[in-house]
Amino acid sequence: MALLPILQYPDPRLHTVAAPVAAVNEEIRRLVKDMADTMYAAPGVGLAAPQVDVYRRVIIIDISEPRDQLRVFINPEIVARSGVSDCEEGCLSVPGIFEKVTRAERITVRALDVQGASFELNADGLLAVCIQHEIDHLEGIVFVEYLSRLKQQRILAKLKKQQRQVM
Ligand code: NI
Repeated sequence: MALLPILQYPDPRLHTVAAPVAAVNEEIRRLVKDMADTMYAAPGVGLAAPQVDVYRRVIIIDISEPRDQLRVFINPEIVARSGVSDCEEGCLSVPGIFEKVTRAERITVRALDVQGASFELNADGLLAVCIQHEIDHLEGIVFVEYLSRLKQQRILAKLKKQQRQVM
């Protein structure tokens, strides 16, 4: 089991745009395994590779209660979206902060699985929110950047205070 360090907002590396995965090989499957160990240990419901300092288009999600339904999306692309939903979000890179973000209510995502096979998934509810949140990380976007400037400043101040307390 390998736990990877999770970058903490406002680390500028979180704004890196991730590159597509050219081949789903053992290296990528190792990355997925390490990301899953890291996400479950945190604990969190989703993780994107850039959060662990790897700039490849890989995200993982598990919103199940028993924490045994890992979903892996490699080179994910949202091919359809509809509706509007406001949902409170959090992020392992922004600990202790939960804020409402407006996103599409239903999406269709196309991606590769860990065997490199293409699949399409229709998602709504929490799963749709998570997929959109994690894909944003691949574009270098952290959810707090959807909030007002004032809210972002408050969050930065709170994070600074938290980080001082850790040290
Ligand atoms: Ni996140």
